[in-house]
Amino acid sequence: MTMIKPTAGTIGSTSVPMTGAFERWLTHFRENPARQQRSESTVSWDAPMLLDSVTRQAFIRSFQRFELGESGDGRHLLAKAALEGDPVYLAALEMLVAEEQKHSALFRRGLDHLDALSLKAHWSDSVFVRLRRMLGLRTELGLFLIVESVAMGYFTALAERAPDPVLRGIGLRIALDERDHIRFQIDRLRQGFLRTPRVGRLAVGLVWGAIAAGASTVLAIDHGSALRACGFSRIEYWRHGMGEFSEAAISVLADPGTEPLGPLE
Ligand SMILES: [Fe+2]
Ligand SMILES: [Fe+2]
Repeated sequence: MTMIKPTAGTIGSTSVPMTGAFERWLTHFRENPARQQRSESTVSWDAPMLLDSVTRQAFIRSFQRFELGESGDGRHLLAKAALEGDPVYLAALEMLVAEEQKHSALFRRGLDHLDALSLKAHWSDSVFVRLRRMLGLRTELGLFLIVESVAMGYFTALAERAPDPVLRGIGLRIALDERDHIRFQIDRLRQGFLRTPRVGRLAVGLVWGAIAAGASTVLAIDHGSALRACGFSRIEYWRHGMGEFSEAAISVLADPGTEPLGPLE
């Protein structure tokens, strides 16, 4: 059975003191464009696309959905975060949202490479956006953590196994950002659960687990053909997504008083 390399790299073990955790994140997001440029400069964007038509269609469908999913302006999320009264966290979150929009642009670039157009709307994205708007900040960040952790293996699979160098380059470029996004969400969510008793956190973990199972199923179905082209069956991917989610959820809920993770450097 093919294994996706663990991304614990994704969460890892380095930590920084609680004080100033988001200052460190702000520095990270300010410095990250230089790393992003270095990563993008390694991609031969003009390389010819040599995929057969079935494989090409698989990546087109997949990239169209991700382009749409990452394109939001985060207006509602940022408005909720602004009410929390932490300008450093808010500034860092704004920069994270900007990185998501860059991911959307990278998928657009991938679609250009595949000689395909963008999608105007997709039901899974519309449902997710509508749901999020109804929620409080902590719950919305929890949903983000679920979706980002479940999707992490897709970017890693793309980076390591996509049968095209431009698609691998896009996967690697995005995976480098996403592993830090997950750590960023964990750091804020830990603060959010500091006063929640253990039994409450257990209940949240169960609800998150049910949502993660659904999200992993949607991802494995929606992107199944692209994952297959990277050598992964839907069920392998589903298990991997749940593994990534569990690691992230435990990191938040087991002991929210743990020192913040900070960015991976
Ligand atoms: Fe993203
Ligand atoms: Fe992200």
